[in-house]
Amino acid sequence: MYDRKVRKSRKMYHEIDLDKIDINATPPTEEPARQYYFMAKARQYVKEETLRIGRPLAAMVKTFGCQMNARDSEKLRGILEIIGYQQSESEEADFVIYNTCTVRENANNKVYGRLGYLNNWKKQNPHTRIALCGCMMQETAVVDKLRTSYRFVDLIFGTHNIYKFAELVTAVFENQGMVIDIWEDTDRIVEELPVERKYSFKSGVNIMFGCNNFCSYCIVPYVRGRERSRSPQDILKEIRRLSRDGVSEVMLLGQNVNSYGKNLEEPMSFARLLAEVEQIEGIRRIRFMTSHPKDLSQELIDVMAASGKICRHLHLPLQSGSSRILKEMNRRYTKEQYLALVERIRRAIPDIAITTDIIVGFPGETEEDFEETMDVVRRVRYDSAFTFIYSKRTGTPAAVMENQVPEAVIKERFDRLLGEVQQIASQKAEGLTGQVQEILVEEVNHQDASLVTGRLSNNSVVHIPGDASMIGTYVKVELVECRGFYYYGKAV
Ligand code: 5AD
Ligand code: SF4
Repeated sequence: MYDRKVRKSRKMYHEIDLDKIDINATPPTEEPARQYYFMAKARQYVKEETLRIGRPLAAMVKTFGCQMNARDSEKLRGILEIIGYQQSESEEADFVIYNTCTVRENANNKVYGRLGYLNNWKKQNPHTRIALCGCMMQETAVVDKLRTSYRFVDLIFGTHNIYKFAELVTAVFENQGMVIDIWEDTDRIVEELPVERKYSFKSGVNIMFGCNNFCSYCIVPYVRGRERSRSPQDILKEIRRLSRDGVSEVMLLGQNVNSYGKNLEEPMSFARLLAEVEQIEGIRRIRFMTSHPKDLSQELIDVMAASGKICRHLHLPLQSGSSRILKEMNRRYTKEQYLALVERIRRAIPDIAITTDIIVGFPGETEEDFEETMDVVRRVRYDSAFTFIYSKRTGTPAAVMENQVPEAVIKERFDRLLGEVQQIASQKAEGLTGQVQEILVEEVNHQDASLVTGRLSNNSVVHIPGDASMIGTYVKVELVECRGFYYYGKAV
């Protein structure tokens, strides 16, 4: 009963009755009407296949990579559900979709590894359909390799045309062989498509797509295209609708949220957008991801400081602490500017948690450069940090830089950095022990069903005694015991 209620409230789509669509007529050219036409058509094909096989069909969307991809997967699931697939947690499904990431080489390797397994599954279950999408598919070399050596894949599409999923699924049903549709870039944003949210009480909201920064190590601008902001009206409308649907926490998503709105017909700052989201009734927590230090404005700091809803957490990727390496990375800030920014943020919002991303072993990184990074880590004292080994991405300027750092040197530096980061993070977490703060309960604990797990405003995880009825509620808790990166607490 409970489950059904949650599932119903997770759905959100434009009120269009697929039964009223004539699938024998020519498809409309305008969007999203065209996609609803193809949803009606694909639904017919799924119905026929369900009858042929004699049981409901199951689909599984597996997400690799970041929150943007996770949100895209929810859009794919929304369409799959409408056309008649049941959601499956297992890859042994009738339709398997991998939404891929390519930010580092190992993300790609994971996908190739899983594909071997899927090939076997499909040999035993020939009606299985396999689709690949996401960032990795925007690389020509990847698609060429799939085209020649992975013939069992049915559908390949990219990041720019994901809104066409219903149309592409229809093409798979109507064609023998691989359907491939990759766009190099796009300036279009299609609104009002279905989405199936993972959580009933919180949701990601795309505010912009793409990236114009061209950090020299990063493949994202090549696979996600140029920066495009959604209109504030569309964003606010979506959040109001989410709020009516029971969502109280939103995460505003973009590769570089601080440059939101600069290219809109009527430019608008990210800080102003946040201030407007703050006005929406029913929304209690606002998060956002990711900030680029060079674009983080005083206006944003002021809005955050004054806000009762914007969470006390800022993810502020450092990448390197060496001004020389930062220049080579095309980050457009220096070590000193970064440190000054952190100080300004902390002065305005003393209880804020600051987290970061750091890359070790960028081409030409010397021991002195690395020590600069360690110095920033010690001075900022991050609440947590994602540390990455530099990965050479073909097509980026850094890939052809000389002085690539030997693997053994990188590994040694990486371990030193990780040790420092972890020690500081656990000291910082320990500092909050004994405090009373509010958590939003997210799920029943996976290891211990007598506990539920929630997050503090600063994004730290807290486990407290409880049950599934608490999911989606806010609970005041005492942080009784710190275990490095998370807490055991109790409701007060
Ligand atoms: N190698 C290693 N890490 C990378 N990142 C982006 N590109 C690379 C790369 N080529 C990291 C950055 C970024 C995070 C999402 O991934 O730290 O902030
Ligand atoms: Fe996300 Fe970048 Fe990976 Fe794409 S390549 S999934 S944008 S991290």
